[in-house]
Amino acid sequence: MTEARITVNGNETPLSPAAPHTTALDFLRERGLTGTKEGCAEGECGACSVMVARPGVHKPTDWVAVNACLVPAAALDGQEIITSEGLATAGEPGTMPSLHPVQEEMAVRGGSQCGYCTPGFVCSMAAEYYRPGRCDHTPDAKPSLDPDPDPKLSPDSDPEPSPAHDPEHGPNGFDLHSLSGNLCRCTGYRPIRDAAFAVGAPAEGDPLAHRRDEAPPVPVATEYTRDGSTFLRKDTLNETLQLLRERPDAVVVAGSTDWGVEVNIRSRRASCVVAVDRLPELRELRVESGHIDIGAGLTLTEIERRLGGDVPAVPLLADLFPQFASRLIRNGATLGGNLGTGSPIGDSPPVLLALDASLVLADADGERVVPLAEYFTGYRQSVRRPDELIRAVRVPLPLSPVTAFHKIAKRRFDDISSVAVAFALDIEDGIVRKARIGLGGVAATPIRSLATEAALEGRPWSAETVDAAARVLRGEGTPMSDHRASALYRSAMLGQSLLKLHAQTTEAVSS
Ligand code: FES
Ligand code: FES
Repeated sequence: MTEARITVNGNETPLSPAAPHTTALDFLRERGLTGTKEGCAEGECGACSVMVARPGVHKPTDWVAVNACLVPAAALDGQEIITSEGLATAGEPGTMPSLHPVQEEMAVRGGSQCGYCTPGFVCSMAAEYYRPGRCDHTPDAKPSLDPDPDPKLSPDSDPEPSPAHDPEHGPNGFDLHSLSGNLCRCTGYRPIRDAAFAVGAPAEGDPLAHRRDEAPPVPVATEYTRDGSTFLRKDTLNETLQLLRERPDAVVVAGSTDWGVEVNIRSRRASCVVAVDRLPELRELRVESGHIDIGAGLTLTEIERRLGGDVPAVPLLADLFPQFASRLIRNGATLGGNLGTGSPIGDSPPVLLALDASLVLADADGERVVPLAEYFTGYRQSVRRPDELIRAVRVPLPLSPVTAFHKIAKRRFDDISSVAVAFALDIEDGIVRKARIGLGGVAATPIRSLATEAALEGRPWSAETVDAAARVLRGEGTPMSDHRASALYRSAMLGQSLLKLHAQTTEAVSS
């Protein structure tokens, strides 16, 4: 095993003497790369955003923005990262580096005042700048710098927007959601959006654009020990499962979006952390005899971008992803992690319960398949043993045609749900043939809404049926009152959610 090292802005940098729990953020700052900032240390502000070279969806390599405050530096052994300092190209000795196009646009359009958030914004912006497909929408002309810009080029007022041009996408194909995990406290978002909507395509010879055409860094086995704690990444699934059998105390991580918060905010430390996110068996996405297997180690962004290609689209998952968390978090978070933590307010379980999903659990002796409805056993507890890994989430086909995911939270995006409800219904000739409803936030575990499903199945999809079923739904679970919502509110939202679905679908079903 070679010495752990990370390629930072093109320079190989030894991981030592960092501790195994040291975040990539602290690792960079301790080496003088202080452009990467700490704001919240829990994945909510994006001040720490950096770009990582990852296996690409449409090219061999994608530049992916992640929260450096959450990722252990040891998880980046053998990987390549680019910070805000690395975006600018160094000029001749004694001359100023030339700015990267996203930095240039941020500067000339007033996208930075105090500058604290700016390095994080430019890294998230650069990742979107290099997203394959975005560059197809290069604008013919940049929006004016005039404070009273030409209305034909204003993102708010284009009378004939191109298909890719809506309030959340620029005429250059820039998806504003790529910045949804970045907060700015002083500039205001208009100039930042102007900068995002002004960037063109990468220039001929842009080294980071060129890097996308080459293979991504290969995962390397890591065994990094300091002061009695170890970060481990094995080459194969079998080796990993053997290790988990020997070390039942190990903390298993993929994107570390949950564990990173525990380390930073609750000062938790583990004697053994095992990374599973690069295991090939956990990164498959395929259709097999009546179901889709979604690798538990794929990031939500990878699933989002790959479903609908070789593998059928899953509209309920497409509804889930934008509401799940920011792009920065979705670039690290996995379904395996969201299910592995067993949180009663995780957003994926209600959706996967409505999809009738099962989990493929692997241990050193083989695999078993457990319906998700039988997986959770108590608050943050499940049937998964410490020596088992979630290898894949199995979604049966065909998919129910009427689906919806309603996340009730105080903010539209990037928030924790008070209640989450997912529906998947088969309605034929106006009759509900099958109903699956998953609920989050109303019990110690995510639950199926069995009584409501029974109140719908075999009955007409009518206002009378839905009113009666909504009353049943209001009584499901054992919701609590806490700082996010009262028990009464949570119950009311359950019923309201079904009424909303009926209102949204009545026209489609009756037509
Ligand atoms: Fe706020 Fe990392 S410091 S997201
Ligand atoms: Fe000050 Fe964004 S420029 S926080």
